[in-house]
Amino acid sequence: MKVLVTGGTGFTGKALVRRLLDDGHEVVALDYKEGIKTQELRDWGAKVVIGSVTDRDVVESSMAGVEVVHHLAAAFRELDVPNTFYDEVNVGGTENVLEAAKRHGVRKFVYCSTCGVHGNVDNPPAAESAPINAADYYQQTKYEAEPVVLRYHAEGLPSVILRPAAIYGPGDPERFFMIFKRVANGSFPMFGGGQTFYHPLYVDSLVDAFIAAQEPGRGDGKAYLIADAEYVTIENLVRGVARALDVDVKIRNLPILPLIIAGHVCEKVCKPFRITPPIFPRRVDWFRQNRAFDISAARRDLGYDPKIDLDEGLRRTAEWYKAEGYL
Ligand SMILES: NC(=O)c1ccc[n+]([C@@H]2O[C@H](COP(=O)([O-])OP(=O)(O)OC[C@H]3O[C@@H](n4cnc5c(N)ncnc54)[C@H](OP(=O)(O)O)[C@@H]3O)[C@@H](O)[C@H]2O)c1
Repeated sequence: MKVLVTGGTGFTGKALVRRLLDDGHEVVALDYKEGIKTQELRDWGAKVVIGSVTDRDVVESSMAGVEVVHHLAAAFRELDVPNTFYDEVNVGGTENVLEAAKRHGVRKFVYCSTCGVHGNVDNPPAAESAPINAADYYQQTKYEAEPVVLRYHAEGLPSVILRPAAIYGPGDPERFFMIFKRVANGSFPMFGGGQTFYHPLYVDSLVDAFIAAQEPGRGDGKAYLIADAEYVTIENLVRGVARALDVDVKIRNLPILPLIIAGHVCEKVCKPFRITPPIFPRRVDWFRQNRAFDISAARRDLGYDPKIDLDEGLRRTAEWYKAEGYL
């Protein structure tokens, strides 16, 4: 098959492109900027189209002959942009890709949303029917694209929505790396009690879910939470990272309120100057938002079956950080 992956050079996109190529598919990756990763994808044999999903011509030029679209491109961690930027990329860009996919007769559209659309989970674990409670502009716009996807589905473009939990694994240079780096130094500041639930998702398991979801008829018109088999407290996550690195970590418990205030103040002060703040509310939320999900619908309808447990996933991730010289 010919498969389009938007955001194909991103952390998850790259893992998905690799799997699709290994499975013998022809892959087109649409991505924002030229860089080392785009060349790597070309070396693997993928075609790379450079440009934004907000540009209809760029999207059009990536869609010829495509049978399956995995739409992963998203404004995600940009902090020095106006909120309208998130709208344009995450909602407008998604509609552009849907529109072109429909016109080209694509037979399956997979939209990568986020578990974050549920915000803080009051009654863990949350299933797809749990309240929508997006906590920030990123999550809100990821959710706003979901009804757009369902509208195109109703108009004849078979579509499925995946809501991944916190993705980690080899190839992630940022998010989990911050945890690994602190733990490797032997001391981890834990704001709050450390008993907040966190639901990791090993990147290869998410790729399994994308591959399952691209099958005709699977999960059409529905949204599915995708996560590891088990969730943990953030304290146990930190202890798991320490085991993976084979270090003793001292967890220092600190009050969370000053951090919450600092996050809001830093964001307010930095935003007008378009400076990325050192602390911001979404980072603080890591310590305080319960994330724990029920993946039984994905197991039942998609045949999703996450095989890598946290210890194994963290071990592989630690190896990658060491091999790549991050640690
Ligand atoms: N990471 C998580 O824990 C998590 C959890 C739930 C859901 N998700 C979702 O999973 C997907 C992949 O996340 P990720 O962590 O792999 O993110 P990532 O590494 O930041 O990848 C996102 C990719 O999208 C590209 N992109 C951004 N804006 C674009 C635009 N306007 N046009 C074309 N491409 C654009 C980026 O290109 P450049 O690098 O060139 O800017 C990047 O390659 C996203 O849809 C995200 O919302 C992530």
